[in-house]
Amino acid sequence: MAKAPSLVSLAVEALKTQLVRVTGDFLIPDIYELPSELFDNLLTRLPPLALHKLQYEMPFMDSNDYDSTYDCLYSGRKRARNCKFNSAWKTLFKMRWPHLVDQIEPVEWQLMYWEAHLQNCLDEAAEFALLPSFDGFIGDIKISDAVLKFIGYEEFSNHSAGDYSSLSYHCQQFGCYARCLRLQNVLCAAETCQLLTNSKLQSLVVWWIRSKEHIDGLCKLVLQNNETLTSLELLHCKLSRSFVTGICSFLCNKSMQTHMIQHFSINTSSFHEINSSSLYWDLVSFLSSGRSLRSLKFRDNHLDKNFGRMVFNALLNASSTLSILDLSGNDMTGWLSNFKQRSSSGHLTSLGVGKSLQSLCLLNLRGNNLYNDDIQDLRHALYHMPNLESLDISDNFIEDAGIRSLIPYFIEASERCNPLAKLILENCEFSCNGVTQLLDTLSTLRRPPKFLSVADNNLGSQVATAIIKMLGTSIQVLNIGGIGLGLSGFQVLQEGITVELKLVEINISKNRGGIETAKFLSKLMPLAPELTEVNAAYNLMPLESLTILCSALKAAKGHLKRMDLTGNIWDYQPSHVSMVAEFQHNGRPILILPSLQTSNVPYDDDP
Ligand SMILES: *[C@@H]1O[C@H](CO)[C@@H](O)[C@H](O)[C@H]1NC(C)=O
Ligand SMILES: *[C@@H]1O[C@H](CO)[C@@H](O)[C@H](O)[C@H]1NC(C)=O
Ligand SMILES: *[C@@H]1O[C@H](CO)[C@@H](O)[C@H](O)[C@H]1NC(C)=O
Ligand SMILES: *[C@@H]1O[C@H](CO)[C@@H](O)[C@H](O)[C@H]1NC(C)=O
Ligand SMILES: *[C@@H]1O[C@H](CO)[C@@H](O)[C@H](O)[C@H]1NC(C)=O
Ligand SMILES: *[C@@H]1O[C@H](CO)[C@@H](O)[C@H](O)[C@H]1NC(C)=O
Ligand SMILES: *[C@@H]1O[C@H](CO)[C@@H](O)[C@H](O)[C@H]1NC(C)=O
Repeated sequence: MAKAPSLVSLAVEALKTQLVRVTGDFLIPDIYELPSELFDNLLTRLPPLALHKLQYEMPFMDSNDYDSTYDCLYSGRKRARNCKFNSAWKTLFKMRWPHLVDQIEPVEWQLMYWEAHLQNCLDEAAEFALLPSFDGFIGDIKISDAVLKFIGYEEFSNHSAGDYSSLSYHCQQFGCYARCLRLQNVLCAAETCQLLTNSKLQSLVVWWIRSKEHIDGLCKLVLQNNETLTSLELLHCKLSRSFVTGICSFLCNKSMQTHMIQHFSINTSSFHEINSSSLYWDLVSFLSSGRSLRSLKFRDNHLDKNFGRMVFNALLNASSTLSILDLSGNDMTGWLSNFKQRSSSGHLTSLGVGKSLQSLCLLNLRGNNLYNDDIQDLRHALYHMPNLESLDISDNFIEDAGIRSLIPYFIEASERCNPLAKLILENCEFSCNGVTQLLDTLSTLRRPPKFLSVADNNLGSQVATAIIKMLGTSIQVLNIGGIGLGLSGFQVLQEGITVELKLVEINISKNRGGIETAKFLSKLMPLAPELTEVNAAYNLMPLESLTILCSALKAAKGHLKRMDLTGNIWDYQPSHVSMVAEFQHNGRPILILPSLQTSNVPYDDDP
């Protein structure tokens, strides 16, 4: 027999019904005087709309408080209530978007809830508006029952009250909570500006921009949010000259002199019918007028050397205060060739002389078809970036000659007050000789990089000696995955490490290290007290490695949070699982075992 409901739960149900039903202004103020136990219990049971109403009409909250409702610094009962509301919102958010909760760390869950809800409505409306048969107002598009149900509309008995099922209603009601939105092309329209008049957008991501109409709509949206918008990202767009002239001249409207955009990104897009010389001046004025521009990303856009050159020259000529420049995934062979000519001929044009990118701290040139020659040129350009901290030139055909030509730069950069701290050189066709020379140099520097990756270069076991030297520096993160260390490489490493290391993370995956991988790790763990993360996946380790690793873990009183052992083909038993279960960090397992189901999948450890 079912348990009889308690008096409290009956009372709470009755209050909930009343709150949900009342659509007008009428709301019993007495509800706020309820004893805490009842009130708190009520909060955890309300659907979003009712919770919103209850919170919005809370009598002892003035409108200023409402903006910072979750600043849980208030004192007394009000503070306690605010925090209760916040956790109720978090629960509601988690129920509706369980996969998103881990990705965000917001304090204002109510805002997050309505922002995500509005995004949901806009996405639904866009699907509908994209249909060729659609011919009407975006604002009139109906929101699905499923979405309405989430926020608690189904519980209203009176369906005739208000047109709450239209997109425009949701924009009006919840637009003021939206700060970051993602809009498909059909929503880049003048009508959307009207729908979102309440919003003060800080970040806007738009995708599938194809036509002049989309650009015009986007420009209007940007203008409408010009006081708050700091981040603009375009994804999967086909951009023509009219776009570049449109958006660039718009963003740096001469009459305003400057724009507020701090983060500008064009990702996975293509440019068409672009005449470089006319484009040049638009982009130049955009890049040089943006005193607030901090991060510029043109990723995966098939851009050529002329574009790369233009961007770099414009930034340098304007002594831009940019801190992040990401040009990865383009095709820029030769992009700096005339920069070198100018720098080395002695007859410098006005460009580059006395100019520098003082604030630039991150440069990403991954996957740009760069060759040895390009790296020689890059070296000259790097001297104009006196505060560069992070350089990624992975996935290029640099080869040993290229990396050798950068060694003098690395030496010099380590002497600066902001030394180069992060160096990513993955899959660059290096050989053991080149990398040995690099590591031998880096390990003698006064301030070597704290983060180094030479992963996915076919180096072989002989590189192990140089790696030992590198490990002996203050390096914290080392990625040597997929470099062909093999059994003998790990043997050398194991014998070579003798002093205490500063290492925090190491990636030794895909090295065919076999049992020697485990022996190396059991030697490493006690010597690296700060070690938190190890990736030893895909190493052809035999099952007995597990016993070695477990006893090493037991002995080492380290901070290890995670050791990835996936991709090793183990037919392990329940006894192994319980042996491993003992090692946990914050309730999560430290040792990540290969899943038994995939143990028949063909082995893929090719570097
Ligand atoms: C329900 O709708 C009708 C017709 O619009 C209206 O007269 C009535 O007052 C509404 N009832 C409530 C509880 O809102
Ligand atoms: C934003 O646009 C309005 C209207 O065009 C203008 O008056 C205002 O100065 C602009 N603000 C900024 C920061 O550019
Ligand atoms: C530049 O801004 C002014 C004032 O805000 C506005 O009147 C003008 O239309 C804008 N020009 C462009 C190209 O957006
Ligand atoms: C570029 O877009 C892809 C998806 O198309 C995404 O995975 C990636 O994170 C984006 N990169 C940047 C820098 O925004
Ligand atoms: C590019 O634009 C410039 C100036 O706008 C013009 O002189 C030149 O002929 C154009 N080139 C091409 C190939 O369209
Ligand atoms: C460099 O900037 C100056 C103004 O600071 C400008 O007059 C000149 O045209 C620019 N040169 C190039 C090549 O962009
Ligand atoms: C470790 O290195 C391998 C090989 O380069 C790479 O595939 C993997 O993503 C890396 N893992 C981490 C966590 O860095």
